[in-house]
Amino acid sequence: MGGPLHGFIDRIDKRSAVVGIVGQGYVGLPLGLVFCEAGLRVVGFDLDAAKVEAISRGDSYIQHIGRERMACAVATGRYSATTDFDRLAECDAILICVPTPLGRHREPDNSYIHSTGREIAKRLRRGQLVVLESTTYPGTTDDELRPLLEASGLRCGADFMLAFSPEREDPGRRDFHTRTTPKLVGGVDEASTRAACRLYALAVEKVVPVSSARVAESAKLLENIFRSVNIALVNELKVIFDRMGIDVWEVIKAAETKPFGFMAFYPGPGLGGHCIPLDPFYLAWKAAEHGEWARFIELAGEINTRMPRYVVEKVAEGLNAGRKALNGARVLVLGLAYKADVDDDRESPSYEIIELLREAGAEVAYCDPHFPVAKKTRKHDIQLRSVPVDAEAFSRFDAVVVATAHREFKDAALYRGVDLVVDTRNVVGPALGGSWTGKPHLVRA
Ligand SMILES: NC(=O)c1ccc[n+]([C@@H]2O[C@H](COP(=O)([O-])OP(=O)(O)OC[C@H]3O[C@@H](n4cnc5c(N)ncnc54)[C@H](O)[C@@H]3O)[C@@H](O)[C@H]2O)c1
Repeated sequence: MGGPLHGFIDRIDKRSAVVGIVGQGYVGLPLGLVFCEAGLRVVGFDLDAAKVEAISRGDSYIQHIGRERMACAVATGRYSATTDFDRLAECDAILICVPTPLGRHREPDNSYIHSTGREIAKRLRRGQLVVLESTTYPGTTDDELRPLLEASGLRCGADFMLAFSPEREDPGRRDFHTRTTPKLVGGVDEASTRAACRLYALAVEKVVPVSSARVAESAKLLENIFRSVNIALVNELKVIFDRMGIDVWEVIKAAETKPFGFMAFYPGPGLGGHCIPLDPFYLAWKAAEHGEWARFIELAGEINTRMPRYVVEKVAEGLNAGRKALNGARVLVLGLAYKADVDDDRESPSYEIIELLREAGAEVAYCDPHFPVAKKTRKHDIQLRSVPVDAEAFSRFDAVVVATAHREFKDAALYRGVDLVVDTRNVVGPALGGSWTGKPHLVRA
């Protein structure tokens, strides 16, 4: 065994390797924890000094990562965090977990990967392994990150190793977590794949090598496109069945009884989270460079993106049925988080629903026990505080829109004094059961 692999494997086997993780967000923080819990020393890098300070205090800023777990990791002395990128030189492996958002015209924004690549290149040393984890289009690791790193004068293969390993974090999921979710690994060469597989095998139960970084990058996109397209399909069917007076939720429940060849996806108010609304467009953009159209991706994007508007139309219809106008109505939106029981509001369709309701002249409030105060996001600044989860408070609104299926919203008693409920998540109907009469008027959206 020669080249940069020599020595690296030895340090992995002795667990003396130091793992640097650039980006301490929803992906980087849990990843750092599993390496630390496997006995390795971890250095977390972030530009955000507040996150670095929180880690140093043993505090967690991600709700599903308990404070106790974070405090335990820091107390071992093996988990530290810093804004000082010179400490990259201490690391045997550097894992990149920085954001990959979309620009204003839905174009990929790989600038975070590029700036991280340049920071690493300034300190790159022989024998290091660099792994990109951020979701991106095929070719980023080979064609963009590799040249940035080689600007250091070191050569990939001869001096350092490079791989792509996509993150499959699903915030709030209980049946799988970072350690038990299989990890794909594709190196730019064989030695890189071997090194990265050996490293991840210390911290995750199953590592799945693939033949190249491009395959690993593409597999991650396939996983997310699969979800986006299927969600768009049920969102479209929801609109069609609604016109026919058929309950889409009952239809899905019925179809789900088929034990093979069917997988249930559920409609909703639009896509949310860091992945599904954004990642498919990375491939659509790259496909254009190759003279191809990603029609399924674009169509799914179009249908899913229209959903907040559909929800607002249903609110207007529901109010109209009670001889009220949306203009001037008091509307309460339940849930800022993009999915149930998490404190993650990234790309949440609730913000767009709130803004569309305001545009139509409604007076809007929200209720979300995970967000006592609405934060300013990249795109929105709604300047509101949460209304309490309370029947008396709910009864003061002309309409309540269920945008997130938080467990707190499943109590039928909350809706007894409400005239109109517009439910995008099938929360209120099942909670009320078959016994309710008249109030609230329930509209599915
Ligand atoms: N959140 C998920 O569920 C999830 C799942 C799978 C994949 N991903 C992918 O993982 C990547 C990271 O996502 P995330 O959810 O952890 O994002 P995040 O916004 O939670 O965290 C990113 C962190 O990187 C930091 N950062 C930004 N630029 C930096 C730089 N140049 N140097 C150091 N730190 C920097 C930010 O301050 C932030 O703390 C993205 O590509 C995303 O698509 C996310």
